[in-house]
Amino acid sequence: MESIKKNEVILSINHLVKDFPLGQSVKDNVMRAVNDVSFELRKGEALAIVGESGSGKSTGARILTRIYQETAGEIIFKGEPLAEYIKENGELEYARQVQMIFQDPFGSLNPVHSIYHHIARPLLIHKRADKAHIPKLVFELLEMVGLSPAKETAEKYPHELSGGQRQRVAIARAIAVDPEVILADEPISMLDVSVRLGILNLMSDLKDKHGISFMYITHDIATARYFAEKTAVMYVGHMVEWGDSDSVTQNPEHPYSQLLLSAVPEVGRAGKRELLAKKGDIPLWKPSSVGCPFAPRCLKATEQCRLSFPEARKVGTNHFARCHHINR
Ligand SMILES: Nc1ncnc2c1ncn2[C@@H]1O[C@H](COP(=O)(O)OP(=O)(O)O)[C@@H](O)[C@H]1O
Ligand SMILES: [Mg+2]
Repeated sequence: MESIKKNEVILSINHLVKDFPLGQSVKDNVMRAVNDVSFELRKGEALAIVGESGSGKSTGARILTRIYQETAGEIIFKGEPLAEYIKENGELEYARQVQMIFQDPFGSLNPVHSIYHHIARPLLIHKRADKAHIPKLVFELLEMVGLSPAKETAEKYPHELSGGQRQRVAIARAIAVDPEVILADEPISMLDVSVRLGILNLMSDLKDKHGISFMYITHDIATARYFAEKTAVMYVGHMVEWGDSDSVTQNPEHPYSQLLLSAVPEVGRAGKRELLAKKGDIPLWKPSSVGCPFAPRCLKATEQCRLSFPEARKVGTNHFARCHHINR
């Protein structure tokens, strides 16, 4: 089996586009949920995709898990176009390598099955071990995600666990099949604040010790900085800023990233915050739409912003943004 070294690119997407039909009547009656998105995911690294609801984050993840077919663009997995990789290795093998964790850990577990069943099932489907060895593996996995005593946990049912514990089960199920990549779609946003950090730290451990790559989808730019080496900021299907998380979150150049950061509560920050954007609706983006999607809310927007979406500009060592008002 091919082995990929730490920091090698494992998954990349180039100029990804996804349109959804809005109705049947008019031929071009479609909305563009993902618009020309490109990024790389490296082994053992986390890439945070940050943006408000409706920015196309989950659609991107669903394309990567083949729930949706992309409208245009290219996906490269382990150096090969994804369709070819799947043709050669099979859908099941790709599904094993790219696992998903969802926002609602209760919804993703089956209430009629024990925790044991949830972890044993993927081990059987993907033939990870002989039947006789499965119990030992299940217990090891539960220990690995901090659910001990494992035997006791295995006998329980989803409703007997807390939200944080259920999310740990979902993580154990994902790592049971030894994946290369985990797509984590808002994995902590439904959990109590008190257990969120524990889940992020568990994912950090899996990344650092086991070399699993994470695409971490969130609307919370503060956790992106905490967990992910790289951050991409999305607005209405567009990538507006991306690069090293430190740089993107400490020196955001795009007015939308600045807005997201201004919403992060910070100890000691005084009084009233500067107004960073106009109130406004999120535009419905169509293939024929032009300009910067943030222009309707942007305090800096000019005619140019309404007419064209700017090229990417390098604003730091590994830091890019698309804004006409960056002068470099
Ligand atoms: N299956 C679908 N059919 C039609 N529109 C969809 C579908 N899935 C998502 N969308 C639309 O695509 C946009 C992006 O949605 P989504 O990817 O879920 O955003 P996010 O995860 O960032 O909140 C939204 O406007 C949403 O309504
Ligand atoms: Mg979503």
